[in-house]
Amino acid sequence: MATVTADADTRPIAPVDVSDAALYTEDRWQEPFAQLRAEMPLAWHPESPYGPYWSVSSHGLIQQVEALPDIYSSDTANGGITIIDPMDEIAQKFENFIAMDRPRHTEQRRVVQPSFNPSEMARREVEIRQRVGELFDVLPVGETFNWVERVSIPITIGMICALFDFPWEERHDLKRWSDWASEVTPDQSEERRMLWLEQMMQMLTRFDRLFEEKRAAPPADDLMSRIIHSDAMGQMPPAERMGNVALLIVGGNDTTRNSMSGFIDAINRYPDQLDKLRADPSLIPNAASEIIRWQSPVTHMRRTALEDTELDGHAIKAGEKLILWYISGNRDEALFADADRFDVTRENARRHIGFGFGIHRCVGARLAELQLQIYIEQIVKRGWRVEPRGDWTRLESCFLHGFTDMPVEIVAEG
Ligand code: HEM
Repeated sequence: MATVTADADTRPIAPVDVSDAALYTEDRWQEPFAQLRAEMPLAWHPESPYGPYWSVSSHGLIQQVEALPDIYSSDTANGGITIIDPMDEIAQKFENFIAMDRPRHTEQRRVVQPSFNPSEMARREVEIRQRVGELFDVLPVGETFNWVERVSIPITIGMICALFDFPWEERHDLKRWSDWASEVTPDQSEERRMLWLEQMMQMLTRFDRLFEEKRAAPPADDLMSRIIHSDAMGQMPPAERMGNVALLIVGGNDTTRNSMSGFIDAINRYPDQLDKLRADPSLIPNAASEIIRWQSPVTHMRRTALEDTELDGHAIKAGEKLILWYISGNRDEALFADADRFDVTRENARRHIGFGFGIHRCVGARLAELQLQIYIEQIVKRGWRVEPRGDWTRLESCFLHGFTDMPVEIVAEG
């Protein structure tokens, strides 16, 4: 165990509660985090609607915490992976492998990993390019419409349908379950909990039918078949099946969707960057990394200290929660020059921490990058500008960072 040199009295107290969703809906989170990084990259919040917590806001410290998964736990039983504590024993049973520690995490991750390996991605690329191209072909150029509804959501929901062999006609259910499963709100009322449970039960019932079809068939290469025919995940109790389905649909859905919407925001704030992509499309893969850095669609992950320890000269007590603010680490000037700027030529864009770090680093990272590259490619090759028409609305959340409405018009120039 590390030597503990400081006590609670010497804790640097954060001047602002960065868990306040208004910072994100009103897009004014940049300044509070810049202050935290400069003055106290590890800061204590004695109270918040989610209880007391530590803010970890620099890139370096976030990596340090994630590199020690045996000290800083992800397990639901200890508090899980978001700022909100699992509400009760029922919620704690909805386990999934992002919210597990070793060795179970390793066993389950190993089952799904092959669905995201390079040969699988090469196969997927053809399918994604065709699907995204068809969607862009029918967009109403010259009219006002909601980009999130018409573009970001259908592309990413389409990907999840393909990954799970889920019927396209039922995609609206998938979107609704994904929204419920990813909700992080201080509202912990019984009524809210029952609504949540009802949606999750619906999701489980539908997915169980798909699982049973796969179980009855010989083992195949797709994700559902891999899961149901595996030793580590084939016999999961219902709540854990539900948890893992939710993980895969939320993991692959809202995150990529919000990166896509974020790209439209970025090229409107920095139109010269779209010009650069048009002049040199070989920059598109780097632009995909840069948009994940700049947007940071997952605002935070949480860890809970399993023992008294020390971090950055401060004593952390067993049981305390640490919030790893990726959104801040990705704007850390110590690593990223002129960090608030969206720059498609940024040389170290790939060092962003938007996918996390260490044993839990996003298993779908390559699939997300691939979708983003193909999506950016479509905008670039068509010579489009996508301009705001009306106010954009941001997601009310301190967990996922994105947009709900983006009225826009496509102006074709190319
Ligand atoms: C831009 C898009 C995406 C972003 C920003 C993102 C971000 C993240 C983050 C921050 C983590 C946790 C990392 C940590 O704790 O260190 C994570 C884990 C995970 N992501 Fe993603 N993700 C994206 C796309 C996807 C996709 C497309 C899928 C799959 C369809 C996916 C599935 C998962 C899974 C299963 C985990 C758990 C990994 C583990 O615990 O070992 N993600 N992702």
